[in-house]
Amino acid sequence: MANGPVFDNSKSEATHKGPLGRGNWATHIGFILAATGSAIGLGNIWKFPYITGEYGGGAFVLVYLVCVVIVGLPLMMAELIIGRRAQQNPVGAFQKLHREGSPWQLVGWLGVASGFVILSYYSVVAGWALAYIFKAIAGFQGTAEAIQGEFGELVGSPGQSILYHTIFMAMCIGIVIGGIKRGIERWSKILMPALFAILIGLATYGLVYTEGGGKALAFLFKPDFSKLGAEGVLSALGHAFFTLSLGMGAMITYGSYMKRDSKLVRDAIAVSFLDTVVALVAGIAIFSMVFHFGMEPGQSVGLIFKTLPVLFEQTGPLVSVPFFVLLTFAAVTSGISLLEVVVSYFVDRRGWSRITATLVLGIAIYLLGIFSAVSAWSVPFSGKGFFDLFDDFSTNYMLPIGGLLTCLFIAWVMKDKDRADEFGSRGALYMGLKFFLRYITPVAVLAVILHGLELLPFMEYGN
Ligand code: PHE
Repeated sequence: MANGPVFDNSKSEATHKGPLGRGNWATHIGFILAATGSAIGLGNIWKFPYITGEYGGGAFVLVYLVCVVIVGLPLMMAELIIGRRAQQNPVGAFQKLHREGSPWQLVGWLGVASGFVILSYYSVVAGWALAYIFKAIAGFQGTAEAIQGEFGELVGSPGQSILYHTIFMAMCIGIVIGGIKRGIERWSKILMPALFAILIGLATYGLVYTEGGGKALAFLFKPDFSKLGAEGVLSALGHAFFTLSLGMGAMITYGSYMKRDSKLVRDAIAVSFLDTVVALVAGIAIFSMVFHFGMEPGQSVGLIFKTLPVLFEQTGPLVSVPFFVLLTFAAVTSGISLLEVVVSYFVDRRGWSRITATLVLGIAIYLLGIFSAVSAWSVPFSGKGFFDLFDDFSTNYMLPIGGLLTCLFIAWVMKDKDRADEFGSRGALYMGLKFFLRYITPVAVLAVILHGLELLPFMEYGN
């Protein structure tokens, strides 16, 4: 069995048809970096601040944190357990752990479909980050309004949006085809900590040097439930799934390349913790600027692209260029995990070569992404843009439903021996996790989905 990491481009990896030829992560740190690389992405730096702004701040953050603890963390362990036990892509994993042809494979399919849809619009946002690298090099100039207006120009220009979307997808495809052992894995070690350092720098600047720090902290940590509503609660849950890369088999896939000897519980905690900290630090940095410059927190998808450049006008390219480079890099390490889920199914189960699978699926995802890149196109009869629809539907429904079913599977269907062996003990901690996965996590997810649809009994929905 090849011992290289999953994306090793050696022949044996690329041409092997069955699960036997699948690699393992070369090093434990390689796995941690890839998994945190998957989790930390646009979700943390772009999405978390803007949806927090949309749903009024603290109350949203609180519900999101509760979701991370009672839903995210147990499910992160669950997906890694399933993946490492099965040593398979999501579709194969459910069959292997239940039986060939089992209906549970549909959960894996849902994951493959989610990866497909999410990457299609994710790439468009990553393209914006990429475009901003060039804007940063040229320098942000002019009044705050003029700088903010540049975002509208970019999004409103189909040519530019598609161009950067093309470049980003090409990068993801190139990496997933060519292997990342010497590329992504090595660069992650430098760039992930660098991203973290820059964020801490920006947050410190925001707290110490701007007038907005205090307001930012109050906005993020003082709950005001009046703006949250049923939709806000559902979005907080959806975001917990999105930001931790859960509910679609990404962690099943990454777990399937893990070696038996690593401590899966500890790893799940580390990945979830780092992801959450990065989101909070990004939130502090961004809202300090927002309040300092007297802007509105509810700026929707444009929030970071409109607020940070106003600050960068003063700091110059020395800060702004690294920021957008690292943002793009964070997006790449997430983008490849989305693509890897889709590709691994076709390689493992269909016997496609890695190159064919990555090219065919990558291009298909790219084409779907064009619908999101052209902001003027909207979904017939809905009045909503493709971008919003794909984002809302995948994050708030596909991921939570995938997560709910995964949870039911591991808690009620998977054999106790399989589960406990991977967990590493049958002690109190294991019993606690099992209890959570059986009774707490699924009930919470189901309740939030029903609440989001305004279908929860005993609740008053004032329409
Ligand atoms: N977690 C990634 C982010 O926060 C997005 C992602 C979702 C990646 C689902 C993989 C799977 O940007």
